Amino acid sequence: MTEATVAIALGTRPEIIKLSPVIRECERRDINYELIHTGQHYSDNLDQVFFDQLELPDPDHHLQVGSKSHGKQTGEMIAGIEDILLDVEPEVLLVQGDTNSVLAGAIAASKLDVALGHVEAGLRSFDREMPEETNRVLTDHVGDYLFAPTETSADYLRDEGIDDKRIHVTGNTVVDAVGRHRELAAEKSSVLDDLGVAVGEFALLTAHRAENVDERDRFAELLTGVARAASSLDLDVVYPIHPRAESRLNEFDLDVPDRIHLVEPQEYLDFLELERTARLIFTDSGGVQEEACILGVPCVTLRENTERPETVDVGANRLVGTDPQTIHDGALAMTNSTTDWENPFGDGTASEQIMATLRQTHSVRTIQ
Ligand code: UD1
Ligand code: UDP
Repeated sequence: MTEATVAIALGTRPEIIKLSPVIRECERRDINYELIHTGQHYSDNLDQVFFDQLELPDPDHHLQVGSKSHGKQTGEMIAGIEDILLDVEPEVLLVQGDTNSVLAGAIAASKLDVALGHVEAGLRSFDREMPEETNRVLTDHVGDYLFAPTETSADYLRDEGIDDKRIHVTGNTVVDAVGRHRELAAEKSSVLDDLGVAVGEFALLTAHRAENVDERDRFAELLTGVARAASSLDLDVVYPIHPRAESRLNEFDLDVPDRIHLVEPQEYLDFLELERTARLIFTDSGGVQEEACILGVPCVTLRENTERPETVDVGANRLVGTDPQTIHDGALAMTNSTTDWENPFGDGTASEQIMATLRQTHSVRTIQ
């Protein structure tokens, strides 16, 4: 039997990116950790490419669960993670974010003698239609260490009656990751030349959320709105398309407007460089709203709500939903506004603070 102090479970692109600074911090402190991959994402360009580029070790355990219905996928992951936790006996399991992999880790750890740490706790869209909202709420309520990125997210947890002792405001590890990689991206990436776009002369689009792309009319409206805005601003749009969105586009036989150029999902450094140099970002992604705000690039969010209200409060983001004219007007307003807002997600030491908290609370006794 192997024994680890910390187990880290992840399964999707954003978890790999946002847990990379935590994994690095475990290595810096010489902590004995075990990495569990659920296999929720498995396509090379959503998975392995990030392990390579972020120089992460191969997972110690791989569940290879793959794509399934929510219940089957989550259930298989719970059983698989439980087996590993029983074998490895870590003091704490860390999960990050709001995916089905996170909920599975939370349920498995909460039934065993394993403390649960939730990185990026306390985010709320207050939209119970979103599968991610269920995952966030349930994970926070069984979590022992809730690492909230901001005071706003800590307040949401307190409002739900969660004991203050479980809440630790650390900033978001996305800032750690952007801080480490933005210069490298600017130095190394040739993505602008490769795609034939110039700094400040294009817009970037990501849209993959189930509620936007799984409904034909909504997805079509979203594309129409983005193209209308791009036409008024005389910008081409680069759309690295998530496989979920690509399969819906094909299934619905939707025409993509000429202004919008579909490309493969991008590697992290290339994507960061596209974000940094875009005139404007259209997105329904959580991580992309944060990164746009950190990089000082205006963002238009193709949703009615956001669990990142801090980005809207500082003036970096505007919620426009999927109505074409609202997308158009929001995009024009954002390109006319100033970009001197302060990043609300911390100073880039979230992963250090997370490990220091575990150490101070003496749960993880061997952490230096
Ligand atoms: C999941 C998360 C979402 C997160 C996103 C990050 C849940 C409920 N959703 O959504 O919160 O924003 O990851 O990108 O956990 N597919 C592939 N290759 C892969 C993975 C998926 O082709 O490696 C395709 C399959 O057709 C699959 C579909 O994408 O059915 C959806 O995958 P799934 O993991 O269920 O959800 P995501 O949309 O990726
Ligand atoms: N990302 C990337 N390549 C892409 C699109 C996104 O590297 O083509 C990164 C992006 O920098 C961010 C993360 O993936 O860190 C966001 O993941 P996603 O939008 O899939 O999930 P969400 O944040 O909405 O859960």
